[in-house]
Amino acid sequence: MTNHKKLHVQTWGCQMNVYDSSRMKDVLAPLGYQACDNAADADMVILNTCHIREKAAEKIYSELGRLRKHKDALAKDGRHMVIAVAGCVAQAEGAEVRRRAPWVDMVFGPQAYHQLPDMVREAARGARVVKTDFPPEPKFDALPKSGGQGPAAFLTVQEGCDKFCTFCVVPYTRGAEYSRPSADVIAEARDLVALGAREITLLGQNVNAYHGDAPDGSGQAWSLGRLIEGLTDVEGLARLRYTTSHPLDMDEDLIAAHRDIDILMPYLHLPVQSGSDRILEAMNRRHKVADYRRVVDVLRASRPDIALSCDFIVGFPGETDQDFEDTLALVRDVGYASAYSFKYSPRPGTTAASSDGHVPEPVKAERLAILQDLLTEQATDFNRQSIGAQFDVLIERVGKREGQMLGRSPYNQAVYVDGGVDAGFAIGDLVKVRVKSGYANSVAAEPLNSASDTA
Ligand code: 5AD
Ligand code: SF4
Repeated sequence: MTNHKKLHVQTWGCQMNVYDSSRMKDVLAPLGYQACDNAADADMVILNTCHIREKAAEKIYSELGRLRKHKDALAKDGRHMVIAVAGCVAQAEGAEVRRRAPWVDMVFGPQAYHQLPDMVREAARGARVVKTDFPPEPKFDALPKSGGQGPAAFLTVQEGCDKFCTFCVVPYTRGAEYSRPSADVIAEARDLVALGAREITLLGQNVNAYHGDAPDGSGQAWSLGRLIEGLTDVEGLARLRYTTSHPLDMDEDLIAAHRDIDILMPYLHLPVQSGSDRILEAMNRRHKVADYRRVVDVLRASRPDIALSCDFIVGFPGETDQDFEDTLALVRDVGYASAYSFKYSPRPGTTAASSDGHVPEPVKAERLAILQDLLTEQATDFNRQSIGAQFDVLIERVGKREGQMLGRSPYNQAVYVDGGVDAGFAIGDLVKVRVKSGYANSVAAEPLNSASDTA
């Protein structure tokens, strides 16, 4: 019987990192590692990092400074804390991590964490472990069965990207595009549902470029739309989502799935980045604004209530006031339920970082504030328009206020369900609610029946 050891994992960045963190816990569980909340007392701390913007990457170094103190304190008690840097910072600047924080024991990229048992053994012998190559064997084949993630689970179906947008580090940190075979995805979905998942979000940097092997061994590929249809056979799965998509890969199958498949939720995160053709071209996005508008129109014809979300970058090199105005015009025309927006951040190794025409920081800040005001106004309008609406909420946790529970609407709104505890609901329940009020980032709702009515 293995002794129990404490594992603390901190996650930055996208949902794929959240998925990877949960899989690292699955890989380490057979070695006796149990997750704990307190970094100061952990036998192993893994920082699962993000490299997408400079700010995210720099945070790691201050965290490593804090961890060094904990490591020294534990050493005084004769205990050894293993510190690991995982994820995209490890992949992109592993050597730099080792130089700036020599007290780090392990550095490994997103494609190597299935090798954690070997790495733990090496580290126990006092070796410094660095694994930032892309191993030839597919990581997913070597991962153990999922240990479950609760009612709303993530499932990576596709990784990497071949699109090379000129601002983006993903093709360098996550590597070339790869799709998992659809049979493996369906098997993992069944495992997740058996362990309590009611909702699954299919993940990929370019998830709608999915083209995994069909389950019949025919050598044919399944599209994402076909995979979603295949997942409707998973008994007990009540909701499906997917993210992140590229406008070019919104094919007919997927658009039809939004019309025909009732467990596919009416929500789509579809980044456009800019509303100016000139900037889209400089970003190597490979589509024009009109193509994006067309996709939105077709989607809305297929599923009229679909809630749209987006990513925008302001202050990309060469962006003029007019280009920025074009972005605002697109936002006004499309109307978003939610959105993320960022100042352009030059990333090492990307084409845009070495291009001319960098936009001064104060201009970026001003544009970001204007865009975010507009997006917040739209999100607030969307949430207020929900007042009076009735829909199911998947309860994911207990809220801060007494009796309150927290979950997500079909449209991916955060929903505070007041009185959910009194009504007898539990985490993992799908609860019918009526929306009472709407805010910038959430809505508040009341349950329409109690747990005993719906049991
Ligand atoms: N600078 C700013 N934002 C970026 N993103 C990706 N790379 C950069 C960068 N260099 C944003 C894009 C992407 C989201 C995940 O992060 O909007 O869709
Ligand atoms: Fe990055 Fe563009 Fe690939 Fe998205 S599509 S991961 S933004 S390179």
